[in-house]
Amino acid sequence: MIPLRLSELVRRSAPRYTSYPTAPQFGPAVGPQDYDGWLRGLKGESASASLYLHVPFCRSICHYCACTTKATRRDEPIIAYADRLRREIALVADRTGPLRVSHIHWGGGTPNLLPPDVFDQLVAELCDRFDVRPDAEHAIELDPRWVTRESARRLKASGVTRASLGVQDFDEGVQRAIGRPQPYSVVQSAISALRSAGVDGLNLDLIYGLPGQTMRSVRLTARLAAFLGPDRISLFGYAHVPWLRANQRLIDDAALPDSAARFDLAETARETLLEAGYVAVGIDHFAKPKDALRRAAQKGTLRRNFQGYTTDRSDVLIGFGPSAVGRLREGYVQNAADAAGWAGAIDAGRFATVKGRALTPEDRLRAEIIEKLMCGFEVDLGATAAAHGFKPAIFADDLEKLGKLAEQEFVRIDGWRVTIAKDAPALARIVASAFDAYLGAAARHSLVV
Ligand SMILES: C[S@@+](CC[C@H](N)C(=O)[O-])C[C@H]1O[C@@H](n2cnc3c(N)ncnc32)[C@H](O)[C@@H]1O
Ligand code: SF4
Repeated sequence: MIPLRLSELVRRSAPRYTSYPTAPQFGPAVGPQDYDGWLRGLKGESASASLYLHVPFCRSICHYCACTTKATRRDEPIIAYADRLRREIALVADRTGPLRVSHIHWGGGTPNLLPPDVFDQLVAELCDRFDVRPDAEHAIELDPRWVTRESARRLKASGVTRASLGVQDFDEGVQRAIGRPQPYSVVQSAISALRSAGVDGLNLDLIYGLPGQTMRSVRLTARLAAFLGPDRISLFGYAHVPWLRANQRLIDDAALPDSAARFDLAETARETLLEAGYVAVGIDHFAKPKDALRRAAQKGTLRRNFQGYTTDRSDVLIGFGPSAVGRLREGYVQNAADAAGWAGAIDAGRFATVKGRALTPEDRLRAEIIEKLMCGFEVDLGATAAAHGFKPAIFADDLEKLGKLAEQEFVRIDGWRVTIAKDAPALARIVASAFDAYLGAAARHSLVV
């Protein structure tokens, strides 16, 4: 049963704060020329950068999916895409020179649809053009249905150290309702192939709030996921945005749980993962007690970026492919989300940047406060403001917005220190939003639970 005092809160929506300012604040004031200049500013830098490569292809589109991707049965479009990706890598490297790279992340879509030779060539291009550190984390998102012993072996040989597999739910009825048929044995075999190949940094993605889920089915899914023993499990709330994603119109709105049921499903999954020995990290991750993400959370070095929580501490993130976002010292940039727009720019030898956001000193301060709340559930506004040359008094109005939450003991306010009650991670987004100077200016956000 949902506790009464949380009942009002779980109906609220707020950004997920994978950046600040958030993506709806990006605009055309930042374009390819700004990106060009910002990249040139990195030349000769000793600081390390992180690379994100987007692969927007899947064999079929799952009903619930909100990712930027499209279906293809053939390999030709994927091979042609990889060729352009190589050209985008060269465009960036021509500006930055051999940047130190501490982290590579392949996301999608389904990056494991890249044929192994093509993937190898792309990795070779990255290693030729950048100074990829020998201890760099090299992560990839995988659809378990397309992992074989041979493909796992090839990933390991290419230097992949970490893999994240989409599970969502193990219940057959739920899988039918979301258009993602995927028996438990498929996930089990994929994990076994990856472990045998030596890729043992593993994450499984689960989703709550899907049609047909019950407390019992969610508990079983969480137990089965934990039984497979990955070092990390992500638990996302289903974001239903059929006005943005036509494929989601295949999901029957009437079969979706309401906000109270979503809360119960989330709590059930969470408790099951905790009982199984996982530790909560941030708002939606679970990790084994000795995992690096968990250790980073304990040390206060956990970070949050467009891929979610990470141990990667570099301040520079370079994104490749349609819709990819980058973060440079000066601000954020985003590539055209449509494949044709992105391809046209790359073919013309230009960057595909269509929008972005230059950061003001106050944006940087607020970004750090929001990241601290999202990662560690507390922040010292006084110390953080001082480090940025601001007086904490600029947050007086924001603190007032938290008054009601403080009265209900969801938040503790002690001088300029704000601490979120640890047992309600959904609160982090609501509390963080009190420090968002742009909230309400645009966009609909997803429910906090
Ligand atoms: C790129 S996919 C993972 C790799 C691969 N394509 C797969 O599905 O196995 C990224 C993850 O985003 C999550 N996701 C996709 N659509 C979502 C939605 N509407 N709401 C919440 N999470 C979603 C899923 O958990 C999915 O595993
Ligand atoms: S969830 Fe994964 S496999 Fe399904 S459509 Fe989205 S990106 Fe593709």
